[in-house]
Amino acid sequence: MIPESFKQDLLNRVDIVDVVSRYVQLKKGGANFMSLCPFHTEKSPSFTVSPVKQFYHCFGCGQHGNAIGFLMAYAGMGYVEAVKDLAAGTGMTVPEDASRQRPKEQTDREQDLYAVIERAMEFYRAELKKSEPAIAYLKGRGLTGEIAARFRIGYAPDDWQGLKAAFPEYEDKALVDAGLVIAGDGKRYDRFRDRVMFPIFNARGAAIGFGGRVMGEDEPKYLNSPETVLFEKGRELYGLVQAREAMRTSSRVLVVEGYMDVVSLAQFGVGYAVATLGTATTPTHVGKLLRLADEIVFCFDGDAAGRKAAWRALEVSLPLALDQKPLRFLFLPEGDDPDTYVRNHGRDAFEHLAGEAQTLSGFLLGELRAGNDLATPEGRSRFLSVARPHLHKVAAPGLRLQMVKEVAQLARVSQEEAERLLEMRVTSAYARPAPARVQASPPLSPEAQLLRSLLTQPNLAAELDLELFDRNLPEGRAVAALAAHCCQGGWAEPLTEAQLIEAFAGSPHAELLERAQASLLEIEMSPEVAEQEFRQIQLIRRIERKNEEITGLSGAERARRIQELAELKRQRA
Ligand code: GTP
Ligand code: MN
Repeated sequence: MIPESFKQDLLNRVDIVDVVSRYVQLKKGGANFMSLCPFHTEKSPSFTVSPVKQFYHCFGCGQHGNAIGFLMAYAGMGYVEAVKDLAAGTGMTVPEDASRQRPKEQTDREQDLYAVIERAMEFYRAELKKSEPAIAYLKGRGLTGEIAARFRIGYAPDDWQGLKAAFPEYEDKALVDAGLVIAGDGKRYDRFRDRVMFPIFNARGAAIGFGGRVMGEDEPKYLNSPETVLFEKGRELYGLVQAREAMRTSSRVLVVEGYMDVVSLAQFGVGYAVATLGTATTPTHVGKLLRLADEIVFCFDGDAAGRKAAWRALEVSLPLALDQKPLRFLFLPEGDDPDTYVRNHGRDAFEHLAGEAQTLSGFLLGELRAGNDLATPEGRSRFLSVARPHLHKVAAPGLRLQMVKEVAQLARVSQEEAERLLEMRVTSAYARPAPARVQASPPLSPEAQLLRSLLTQPNLAAELDLELFDRNLPEGRAVAALAAHCCQGGWAEPLTEAQLIEAFAGSPHAELLERAQASLLEIEMSPEVAEQEFRQIQLIRRIERKNEEITGLSGAERARRIQELAELKRQRA
């Protein structure tokens, strides 16, 4: 856990404009910076970054967040990764649990290793230019020089100590730690020899490892870097950096199995493909991709091994699937992989197949049906019982409901019966907030207006009369929560909007706060106006309450309330 105070401090020191500018070209427009939205396709800029409020918002797709959120949503970083990245830029050190604290030398070491791998990559690239057989091999597989350069493909020479040419300090332990050199029996030699080299980059674009392919029939066909401090196979995806732009414009990501599949698809115009690194799909992979694209298509070979791998990807995905982001499964005709398919049939044919890929629920239910004879009561009840654990894993409420209905229909029971038999509760243990995409904003309710004035002038929280607001409504609860946070005290300086985003990230109030913050980008609200708005709203509520009270009264009591009402109305004027 990173201490809250550290995050708040960090957000005070970073400038979101700098952070976003690392990835997106921003133009000044009035008080804010603007650009075409990096999260969706558009023709005129609706992506806005506020240097004053320290958050970004897209009026087109609703993406919203502070500097930490941007690195997670756009650069695909994990939370801790994003905080560390920002901290590194400001010279702050992220305090960690004592148990996980690493000595300083180790961080220096990591810096070294990035440099080592980078230098090796450049060496391999230079070697490729000199190697006719390697160039011929890549050409033979249909790749142009341009695409080879884009993926920084290289060649490891057929030499036991080829890297000596790039590393005079060949004895350095760093080469072993980076996975480039193998040391044993007092001898040292290059791990990769006479192989075409595919560098693997992390989300920040740093090279962290390699996959090396033989050009002939030797074994192993692919040799990968071992896991190192920089390279954890289950976290990384091959081609992510190169795919980013195409993922953004298509809103889609295709997950394939091989390096060559990614490169070949890119060569033929399908730029949004990434590959797992010879491992099964992990939850980390799926989580990362869901943050970067609206639709994930897992692509597998049509053979038994492909179906098995697909099933594993399905099991990993069930708890992570989101209602607004479909996951699909594409099975290629037997004998093909994405590389051969796109080469033989072209981009359009491939994309047509991808467009018709099975949905996650279609794949799951199809597999479950295949194992059970739905024509018999026994088959149908068995179908229900095997479906149960899978449905329980689905966290997305809409998808879950749809799947239950589908299962009920197939099993010839009513939805209620299915829910009872499957013991489906309304909420799932896996439930977690989904990144909501807010559409065009409706007119603001009084509570939303209150949120807006509180955001502008957090001090007003002390004057809030909670009795006036209905806490059965989400808006009422959000107002109460925001006010409680602001009144909590101990804040060194007035709370900034970036800090409030952080404080409420993942809470049920996040979406309402986002909407209020977005509306603040459109109207520049001064603290004075915020104060006025705040008082007006409370006053209107008091008048409404008074009116309600009066309707049930008579006599002197009623007369007294009418007088109070008149007084309130006078204040309002
Ligand atoms: P090409 O034959 O070059 O087209 O390879 P491919 O991309 O079609 O590879 P394949 O389907 O055989 O394997 C998919 C992925 O599994 C590769 O990209 C590697 O990551 C991994 N892989 C394949 N063969 C080996 C191997 O022999 N050893 C290891 N460690 N990984 C392998
Ligand atoms: Mn292949």
